Amino acid sequence: MTYLSLHSHLELARFYWKIVLQPGDWAIDATCGNGKDTLQLGKLSLGGVIGLDKQQIAIENTTTLLKNHLQEDEYKKMHLFCTSHIRFPSLAYKYSIRLIIYNLGYLPGSNKKITTFTEDTLKSLKLALELIMPGGLITICCYPGHVEGAREQNLLLQKAQELSPSQYVICHHSWPNKYASASLLLIQKKNSY
Ligand SMILES: C[S@@+](CC[C@H](N)C(=O)[O-])C[C@H]1O[C@@H](n2cnc3c(N)ncnc32)[C@H](O)[C@@H]1O
Repeated sequence: MTYLSLHSHLELARFYWKIVLQPGDWAIDATCGNGKDTLQLGKLSLGGVIGLDKQQIAIENTTTLLKNHLQEDEYKKMHLFCTSHIRFPSLAYKYSIRLIIYNLGYLPGSNKKITTFTEDTLKSLKLALELIMPGGLITICCYPGHVEGAREQNLLLQKAQELSPSQYVICHHSWPNKYASASLLLIQKKNSY
């Protein structure tokens, strides 16, 4: 039996990825960072994983992590791009995308001033909502503990509230007894509408 720790928004996000993804599916990690989440996706027997980060150092760190921990056949399915998620690469439009993940904030261990910016995240989410296949899931890890992160979470929740309930299911996990704790926003495109 899999033990799920509700203590961690990241662990909860990974739990949902495993539920929604099926072998052969394609997924996008829109914020690779040091590649920990990308690596989790790489181990799930998917058809392909597209990883994006606007920082070259993040793509290099992710590449190293993937090379060190994936089998050759798994690594071949990983497609990394040093680019902003405000535009998805053309490869993303060639496949049905079942999962798109965002882990907002700054690159751990790097310049904390290079963070996700609310306006870019909102632009990206608009594209992701169109791109994701019916039944597919978008997960967003938010960090309201810093000023831009709080603004980003608020505007994302506002945007989520505006989405039609006939088209999208929205769920927001937060930890109310932890001050300014990270949270997990889930958006699933309904199968038919
Ligand atoms: C919290 S880190 C991601 C952590 C990563 N998931 C991991 O497991 O290591 C956030 C990343 O988002 C990237 N980022 C910020 N804005 C971006 C954008 N517009 N497009 C793509 N990546 C972006 C940052 O460079 C940073 O590496």
